[in-house]
Amino acid sequence: MSESAKLIYNNQTFELPIIIGTENEPAIDIRKLRDTTGLVTFDDGYKNTGATESQITFIDGEKGILHYRGYAIDELAEKAEFLEVAYLLIYGHLPNQAEYSDWKNKMIRHSLVHEDVKKVFDAYPTGAHPMGQLMTMMSMMSSFYPNNQDPHNTEEDKNLTIARMMAKMPNLCAMMYKKRIGHPVMYPNNNLGYIENYLRMTFGNPCEDFHVDPVVVSAMNKLLILHADHEQNCSTSTVRMVGSAHTNLWATIAAGISALWGPLHGGANQEVLEMLQDIKNSGNSPKEYVEKVKNKVAGVRLMGFGHRVYKNFDPRAKIIKKACDDILNKLGVNDPLLEIAKELEQIALSDSYFVERKLYPNVDFYSGIIYRALGYPNEMFTVLFALGRLPGWIAQWKEMIESKAPISRPRQIYTGATPRAYVEISKR
Ligand code: CMC
Repeated sequence: MSESAKLIYNNQTFELPIIIGTENEPAIDIRKLRDTTGLVTFDDGYKNTGATESQITFIDGEKGILHYRGYAIDELAEKAEFLEVAYLLIYGHLPNQAEYSDWKNKMIRHSLVHEDVKKVFDAYPTGAHPMGQLMTMMSMMSSFYPNNQDPHNTEEDKNLTIARMMAKMPNLCAMMYKKRIGHPVMYPNNNLGYIENYLRMTFGNPCEDFHVDPVVVSAMNKLLILHADHEQNCSTSTVRMVGSAHTNLWATIAAGISALWGPLHGGANQEVLEMLQDIKNSGNSPKEYVEKVKNKVAGVRLMGFGHRVYKNFDPRAKIIKKACDDILNKLGVNDPLLEIAKELEQIALSDSYFVERKLYPNVDFYSGIIYRALGYPNEMFTVLFALGRLPGWIAQWKEMIESKAPISRPRQIYTGATPRAYVEISKR
């Protein structure tokens, strides 16, 4: 592969170095372009811009490959525990026995949240969207740890903040659910694992023992692993960008949660379920819905379809579709929405509109049906995405801070008015 690319501009030739990643992806290094040529690059939505070097996640969108730190997603989803994968993403290697038991102990030791947090929940109107609450809670946690704010504190201090955040996240997510249904908050139980604890805090109540169905734990484990990281997507890029200003980790992750909430990103899982419910309630056929999508009726999209990077298939969607069938079978759930989803998928995959645009089901297309079967209301779906994505955000933030990345600050192509004189209001 060439080591440089040539740019001819104003009859002059400029050499631009080529950077090659470990999976042989070549990129033109344009960092000195403005100094040497006076040019900036233009790429709205960063569709073709590498914003960082990273050792965390590799995606080949054409081949439908997804690796975390070199490990294939299929294998991790099949064999690993979510906390192991979280450790892998954040610290770069799979934990050995001692590291893993220390990590799990930390998840127990730091799982309680300050009692004052409950007062903030009380101020929210009933029915408030949980993602808005999660964002507030995450940002608010920074107020409880004012001495651990600086991302350049000691390694020990940084690891303490990471452990606190990972350990408290299930508790915060469960508290929101309890507030929503008007039930008392459940405290964590130190005898349970991370996922079991979360399920108990969500679905258990103080009046009776809670027995966790292993099928549900295994489904949650798989889903959390599949959502754990996805390189430089919208929320992760937000985390890197906000964190690059050396903002504390809590506020930085709160910004990532805001980005994830959007319906084009993590919010799509809720949108998919609502779309399926609308189709069912309207009495229209999936085919009629697809026609509306193709005719671009009032911005109607086939939610859970399409991806910025995957142009062949989303490997996560493949695993989730299979898991969806397995889990519904094991739980004995017969959901008519699953049939609608399968029909929509079948129609879309053989329709030239979707084929030509390379639109395939993404991670959000079937995940909501599983969440629904596990008992979550639609509005909690994106919170579950955030619970899974947290270690990925932390890993990307840590890598960014440790690489001493400069503050993120893109350029623009100004297209507004050229200089003009101020006109007094009486003369306008
Ligand atoms: N339904 C109908 N048409 C679509 C869809 C869709 N879901 N997605 C893209 N298109 C069309 C789009 O209208 C455009 O057509 P045209 O060339 O005629 O203007 C073409 O395909 C290219 O779309 P784009 O919006 O320019 O593509 P993008 O890479 O900017 O957007 C996307 C990617 C994921 C935002 C988009 O596919 C989408 O809106 N999908 C639905 C929302 C969704 O499921 N989001 C979850 C993404 S995966 C989870 C995660 O966020 O990580």
